[in-house]
Amino acid sequence: MQIHTTIDSMRRARQAAGRCAFVPTMGNLHAGHIALMRQAASHADAVIASIFVNRLQFGPSEDFDKYPRTLQADCEMLEAAGVAHLFAPDEAVMYPSRQNYHVEPDPAQATALEGAHRAGHFRGVATVVLKLLNIVQPDVALFGKKDYQQLMVLRNMVSQMALPVDIVAGETVRAEDGLALSSRNRYLSDAERAEAVRLSRCLNRIRDAVRAGNHDFDALERAAMSELATHDWHPDYIAVRRQLDLQAPAAPDDALVVLGAARLGSTRLIDNLEI
Ligand code: PAF
Repeated sequence: MQIHTTIDSMRRARQAAGRCAFVPTMGNLHAGHIALMRQAASHADAVIASIFVNRLQFGPSEDFDKYPRTLQADCEMLEAAGVAHLFAPDEAVMYPSRQNYHVEPDPAQATALEGAHRAGHFRGVATVVLKLLNIVQPDVALFGKKDYQQLMVLRNMVSQMALPVDIVAGETVRAEDGLALSSRNRYLSDAERAEAVRLSRCLNRIRDAVRAGNHDFDALERAAMSELATHDWHPDYIAVRRQLDLQAPAAPDDALVVLGAARLGSTRLIDNLEI
């Protein structure tokens, strides 16, 4: 695997690489990222990954400083997964001067759910992803469904800006007990890790209920929020939404997704399930 720390080097390698599939990450890779790399390989001659912890998408009181940076271990995993190129710039390469131009996602999609609890988050995500896509110029880019709203915002950015890249979604990878894999899981104590599965269990219960014909979404959401709160979580939201645009369900045949975010101790976890 070739590691590129400059834009020039990345671009030169990309030009020689044929059809490319790109998986942007913030590092601290786990089996979910590796599944995306393998999926990427089925779309292209070469897989390009990036690792960049993007300051723009973290709020002032969020975990930018303590976000786990594990480049050596990440490189070993990427090599083993057959990734051809890694773009691993530092901040001076990505943001040599203050980033004054931003992508402002549609507020209807970026200010609800995650956006309501993480002001400016999707603006930071969309801005860095546009920049990464401009640098790497892949044919295909892959994003995990674990960050469902991020996937929707990025799909819409690519479509509205007519970017010449296909967006492909990867399924969420889960631990044996059902906890969605996330780099932030490593913040959990042993006791919190054992409790953490409750979030996916709550979402599963809602999915089963909706599939069985219960459309009292408010009641289902409230019951899950209160179960989490009873077990010392601080839930931000549990919400049944349309897959299409994450708005409230309107028609009986809308394809739905249930999304949740909650803090356990000092760790904020998110998850979702398509219904
Ligand atoms: O999903 C992530 O890891 C990040 O939000 C992304 C897409 C790499 C942008 O920094």
